[in-house]
Amino acid sequence: MRAGLDPAALRRVYDRVASRYDVQHAVLTARSDQRGRELVVAEGVRPGDIVLDCGAGTGSTALLAARRVGAVGAVALFDMSEGMLAVARRRLEAAGLAAHATFRTGDMLALPFADATFDVALSTYSMCPLYDPARGALELLRVVKPGGRLAVAHSVEPAGPLARRLADLVESVVWRFPAISLGCRSVSVRPALERAGARLVFERRLGVPLWPFLVFVVEKPAA
Ligand SMILES: C[S@@+](CC[C@H](N)C(=O)[O-])C[C@H]1O[C@@H](n2cnc3c(N)ncnc32)[C@H](O)[C@@H]1O
Repeated sequence: MRAGLDPAALRRVYDRVASRYDVQHAVLTARSDQRGRELVVAEGVRPGDIVLDCGAGTGSTALLAARRVGAVGAVALFDMSEGMLAVARRRLEAAGLAAHATFRTGDMLALPFADATFDVALSTYSMCPLYDPARGALELLRVVKPGGRLAVAHSVEPAGPLARRLADLVESVVWRFPAISLGCRSVSVRPALERAGARLVFERRLGVPLWPFLVFVVEKPAA
């Protein structure tokens, strides 16, 4: 796994690309990114849930989650980039879903929420640019209630050795241009969660051959 970009530099990148992020990410992932968000919400979120969307970006996943939780649920959007969250706020307002949403900036590795605050925490592609993805995943698990869920989509290495070599070559070129790579690389966080006692309840691979995603849901052990 490549070392992540410096967090301050990463924040500047996301602030700068916020207005074009949705189009750029959809093109880079051949539009498979939205399928990952839909699966995360379908498998991870239930009506009435209090949801944390971590690394919420421009709010694509939060929009789906806000619709699913309904009027008695709520969605907290958390991201380090003011620019990305500003786009998210506009989108949720335009969709009439902002009344049950909150917006907060900060670092995913030190969440400003008490233990066991949320029914479910979501991360769609926000583990990929994190400088310590496994620590980030454990921090999300911390703020989920016992018996609650953590639903994640992130990039993984392609399955075959040839595709892996090709993907690594492409990644090493794109990596030189953070405004294009967005600091994203394939990561692995599920083993750390399972070592912490989380139980796998759903898993699927999707995406294009050179740029696959892993979507999974784990359950935090009941207290
Ligand atoms: C690839 S985007 C994913 C955005 C959105 N979840 C989606 O589905 O499109 C990664 C997001 O994670 C945020 N992010 C990266 N590192 C972070 C950190 N340490 N703390 C909080 N947010 C972070 C970025 O600002 C960006 O909005």
